[in-house]
Amino acid sequence: MKILIIGASGLLGSAFSAAAKRRKHETIGFVGNYSEKVPHLDEQIKIDLRDEAETERVILELFPDAIVNCAAMSQPWQCVENPEESYYLNTLLPEKLARLARHLFATFIHISSEQVFDGKNAPYQISDSVSPINKYAEQKAESEKRVHHACEEFATTLRIPLLNGNSLSGNRSLHEILMANWAQGKATPLFEDEIRQPCLADNLAQVMVELCERQDLKGIYHWAGARPISRYEMGEQLIKHFGLPEDFIVKSQRGDDPRFANRQANLALDLQPLDGKLKTNPQTFVEQLDSLIVPKPVRAWYNAL
Ligand SMILES: NC(=O)c1ccc[n+]([C@@H]2O[C@H](COP(=O)([O-])OP(=O)(O)OC[C@H]3O[C@@H](n4cnc5c(N)ncnc54)[C@H](OP(=O)(O)O)[C@@H]3O)[C@@H](O)[C@H]2O)c1
Repeated sequence: MKILIIGASGLLGSAFSAAAKRRKHETIGFVGNYSEKVPHLDEQIKIDLRDEAETERVILELFPDAIVNCAAMSQPWQCVENPEESYYLNTLLPEKLARLARHLFATFIHISSEQVFDGKNAPYQISDSVSPINKYAEQKAESEKRVHHACEEFATTLRIPLLNGNSLSGNRSLHEILMANWAQGKATPLFEDEIRQPCLADNLAQVMVELCERQDLKGIYHWAGARPISRYEMGEQLIKHFGLPEDFIVKSQRGDDPRFANRQANLALDLQPLDGKLKTNPQTFVEQLDSLIVPKPVRAWYNAL
């Protein structure tokens, strides 16, 4: 299958490229500013996704069997600072890609977020109403509607959690961000009362490859880790895994800092009906740890400890 990966240089896009190549698919990746070679791509195309006409031209020329959208402005603060650009990338572009997929009779995989929920009624089922409380979440919630309106019969959207994994830049995922803080000598406050259900990007990527290969799972689904866990427990497990001092993390509550008081308390996801229908199984946080490596930007600091 010829698969076009939009955002192939990102944390998820690069994991997906590897997973798709392992299954012997042809992998073509769009990248933005990333200037090095993304492993496992048969062809890498640099493109600014904000250039709608050029994006459409190249996609029609490639004529892929599947389009997998891993591109986004994916940090909530970026969406506040760049409301128009983020609205385009997170909401209008996915709709555009969905329309192109329909035109090409191609499978379309889109990525949404646990953030579409307000955190008050977890675990969330796929039938629960969305209740976004920040701009990024609003954009993602609207993207779901637009994608499935544009391309109901070809599209699958996955709502996904906080991602674990090894990004190409080494500064994108949960442990990479924490280790960058620790390398600067900053002990990190982590919330005991904020519950998430993190998932390894590689595990999610395998799910997405399965979804490309199957035609019977269209619609909106949830995928995440096997169990919810607090932010503080995540920190504890990471400290233990990498053999770091326990005082690198500090117990904290969301209400301790007014900037974080409104964050969603619990974004656990119910993985039915997808869990059990696939060969890939959700992993616990501890199972995910084995795949994590010390990120390049902090390797010298880590080795000197
Ligand atoms: N990471 C998480 O914890 C998490 C949690 C929930 C949902 N998600 C969702 O999962 C998906 C993947 O996230 P991620 O963490 O892998 O994102 P990421 O690492 O930030 O990667 C974003 C990708 O989008 C590309 N991109 C952005 N703007 C572009 C532009 N104007 N032109 C061309 N390419 C552009 C980037 O290319 P360059 O880097 O080459 O510029 C990069 O490949 C997103 O939909 C995100 O919202 C992520």
